[in-house]
Amino acid sequence: GAPVEVDISALQPGEKITVEWRGKPVWIMRRTPEQLAALPKLDDQLADPLSTRTAYPTPEYARNVHRSIKPEIFVGVGICSHLGCSPIDKFQPGAQPSLPADWVGGFLCPCHGSTFDLAGRVFSNKPAPDNLEVPPHTYLSDTRLLIG
Ligand code: FES
Repeated sequence: GAPVEVDISALQPGEKITVEWRGKPVWIMRRTPEQLAALPKLDDQLADPLSTRTAYPTPEYARNVHRSIKPEIFVGVGICSHLGCSPIDKFQPGAQPSLPADWVGGFLCPCHGSTFDLAGRVFSNKPAPDNLEVPPHTYLSDTRLLIG
């Protein structure tokens, strides 16, 4: 499939858009400062916080706590690593025990309850074995993203 070019200039903090790349939904989310600050605090609840053992190898440039090139912009494939359902946005604390009181959101797979943080990192003890895939991508300019 051809690479997909996306203009992210209108993407507001806290907002997520979905584009299609190779028949897959690719999420692009601009995280708020609060959402970014929350990521490191979740590490001990995650199966693979540093994205070292994923079956979908995280590109080198996204192997960091925010799993992205620009800290605020998350680019990830919205397909659960368990059996391929598409997780939904911003599950509430009840869906995942031991979430911090200042929980800022994440993703919930409706099929078997796997939960992911806002960097697509999977919580431990959930059926999904791996973090969400980060597709190959690059920035053509500050506001133009190329996926693929
Ligand atoms: Fe997502 Fe099973 S397909 S938890």
